[in-house]
Amino acid sequence: MKHILNAPFIEEMKLTTANMYRLGWDERNGGNISYMLDEREVAQYLNVNRPIRTIPIGFSVPELAGKLFLVTGTGKYFKNVERDPETNLGIVRIAQDGITAELLWGYRDGGKFTSELPSHLMCHAARLKVDPENRVVIHSHPTHTLAMNYVHELDEKKFTHTLWEMCTECIVVFPDGVGILPWMLCGTNSIGEATAKKMEAFRLVVWAMHGIYGAGKTMDETFGLIETVEKAAQIYMLTLGSKRVNTIRDEQMKELAEFFGVNYRKDFLNF
Ligand code: 13P
Ligand code: ZN
Repeated sequence: MKHILNAPFIEEMKLTTANMYRLGWDERNGGNISYMLDEREVAQYLNVNRPIRTIPIGFSVPELAGKLFLVTGTGKYFKNVERDPETNLGIVRIAQDGITAELLWGYRDGGKFTSELPSHLMCHAARLKVDPENRVVIHSHPTHTLAMNYVHELDEKKFTHTLWEMCTECIVVFPDGVGILPWMLCGTNSIGEATAKKMEAFRLVVWAMHGIYGAGKTMDETFGLIETVEKAAQIYMLTLGSKRVNTIRDEQMKELAEFFGVNYRKDFLNF
């Protein structure tokens, strides 16, 4: 059996959480990540038929029964994942009943998965219907994206349009735009259901005055989505209050989207 701490998926999680911490997006225990794993791959490192303990999920996700996820722990700090993955991360399998998680590895101090598990699992289920290759859901508190929430109208079309204007590549990276939820209580099934509903149409969902969710096929793709929104939001915040003398026009965004062959939200441009 290979050593779990050498597994590429643990390495990816360590790198991503460390990056996000150093970017200042995930203060204290802010942010959480879930990564769907291939059971055959995990079986090279663990006895997947011997759960350490079971943990109630608190809602039902029968469509994910049997699936394995590497998930950050609740109350755990991204800055500490690199140093002690076994305490700050866990690998769980969704049991056949769809309401229990079987802990296969991790949460060594008796902890459990993120309080945002409802949003993560419901988003996985929603995205898998749209893209069967979706594997990763990331939640974060990126600074400029959050700052923008306080000064920009929280309308999906207007917010996306502003972001698309801020960097030439935005419309190519997230042509489906950014969904927005109003401020809601976090850690609940309700915010999970609302986020998953948005994820039927968007890979990025802003939680007003809280943070953002991203979903994608790989860790890099998902991280890159949030990173691109954050970069655009940073440029917006840096230029806010200054007289804007140049911008990327709607015809240019259309030209970009057509040249790169992406299926963009045409109703988010003003023609
Ligand atoms: P957890 O520590 O439970 O993952 O919560 C962090 C967070 O960002 C809540 O939205
Ligand atoms: Zn949060």
